[in-house]
Amino acid sequence: MSIEVKNLTYWYDAGTPYSKKAVDNVSFTIEKGEFIGLIGHTGSGKSTLIQHLNGLIKPTSGTVLYNGTDIFAKETDLRQIRQKVGLVFQYPEHQLFEMTVRKDVEFGPRNLHLPQEEIDRRVEQALRVVGLPESVWEKSPFELSGGQKRRAAIAGVLAMEPEYLILDEPTAGLDPKGRDEILGQIESLRDTLGLAVILVSHSMEDVARYVDRLIVMAEGQKRYDDTPREVFTHVFDLISIGLGIPQITELNERLKEHGFHLPKTILTVEEMRDALIEGGQIHA
Ligand SMILES: Nc1ncnc2c1ncn2[C@@H]1O[C@H](COP(=O)(O)OP(=O)(O)O)[C@@H](O)[C@H]1O
Ligand SMILES: [Mg+2]
Repeated sequence: MSIEVKNLTYWYDAGTPYSKKAVDNVSFTIEKGEFIGLIGHTGSGKSTLIQHLNGLIKPTSGTVLYNGTDIFAKETDLRQIRQKVGLVFQYPEHQLFEMTVRKDVEFGPRNLHLPQEEIDRRVEQALRVVGLPESVWEKSPFELSGGQKRRAAIAGVLAMEPEYLILDEPTAGLDPKGRDEILGQIESLRDTLGLAVILVSHSMEDVARYVDRLIVMAEGQKRYDDTPREVFTHVFDLISIGLGIPQITELNERLKEHGFHLPKTILTVEEMRDALIEGGQIHA
């Protein structure tokens, strides 16, 4: 089970004076169950790249294989691929439109012409997984808070029971509390459902502590593809492409300069605390 991207290049407005290369010869493979952060400065090609993964955009050159099948081949059923590769756009709450939260989440599965019981099962499971209480299911989506609306939109994609879930900047426009809530929720749904998650972000703070693998984009190219810990060793280069490293990782660098005995890289506040206590440098 995998999505394979091979030498993918995409030009907007190809063949016109306005042509612009947005993705430049990118290759990678995503295996089932992986948790990946796709990160890069605004304009680095992230949104363009991910829209290829479920067939919304066709590569100018290169291929995308879903379990070995070219998703753009004539005989491939793209609707099936789109069910399996769920894409949550940036500001997905703008696409909520039904009278109730439940109806909105139902929209996708209903189009699959499933029996009503199966629709209900999927909808209720999706709403529970994103942490929306039953008390809001029959409400209008417009009565919900910003964070709740976004969860309702994510539930709509989950109700299709995808194997891969791609979220484009899921924390955009949320306050820090809303941001932590939605990221925590994504982490737990990934653990419960076992699906692969690709979290797209321009913020290292957001993704560093959650993902197992970071794909870093710069000017349409793939710059790094490694564990966060390994990627963060390239501090200066990351700053030069407008990304930087999380504050806690940077604090670690500074403390080491001042003679503290600390690990090579630190990703979370909890790790920092444990390292300082273990080294006897502070007391619990
Ligand atoms: N619809 C479009 N038409 C022309 N150029 C576009 C379009 N969408 C994006 N671009 C350009 O493609 C590049 C990559 O954009 P995008 O994929 O949106 O990056 P990101 O999601 O990393 O911010 C940018 O230079 C952007 O201006
Ligand atoms: Mg984008």
